[in-house]
Amino acid sequence: MFKLRVILVAFLVTFIGAVSANHKSDHSVKERTKPTGSVYKAGDDVPVAKPAVVETTGARDGATIYSQKCAMCHDAGIAGAPKVGEASAWTDRVSKGEEALFSSAINGFTGSQGVMPAKGGCGDCSDEEVTDAVKHMLELLK
Ligand code: HEC
Repeated sequence: MFKLRVILVAFLVTFIGAVSANHKSDHSVKERTKPTGSVYKAGDDVPVAKPAVVETTGARDGATIYSQKCAMCHDAGIAGAPKVGEASAWTDRVSKGEEALFSSAINGFTGSQGVMPAKGGCGDCSDEEVTDAVKHMLELLK
């Protein structure tokens, strides 16, 4: 009987020892105490979600910007906008020089006819695109 107990106790000690050894093993501790999130350091190869459609269209040309962002007012002369087809509406403006017109289109312009919104209200147009649109308008006048 005593022998059996010794064996049992020995067995238990071994068993518990094995379990706790595993519990405290380096790997197990690291695994269980690691942070829930991961932090990338500079230089890490960070996985980046790619946009579904990668379009590198670059700057839109003046004609495109004009038809999408300016024609609504300047084709028909809405809200006092000088019509592109009406040269007389542009004589005084053209005499101010191209740069002045680029600036009016980019920054907005309030004259005697009405209000020209900055960039025609186009929030995503670059200065260059608006300048090209003005050049396109001046071409249409010729
Ligand atoms: C909401 C209507 C509207 C839109 C859209 C609009 N314009 Fe105008 N624009 C005007 C009005 C009104 C004037 C005249 C303001 C005045 O002289 O009283 C004007 C004037 C101008 C002038 C002459 C400025 C000057 O100094 O005499 C240019 C150049 C011009 N617009 C370019 C553009 C371009 C380029 C776009 C598109 C990116 C555009 N406009 C979009 C209403 C608009």
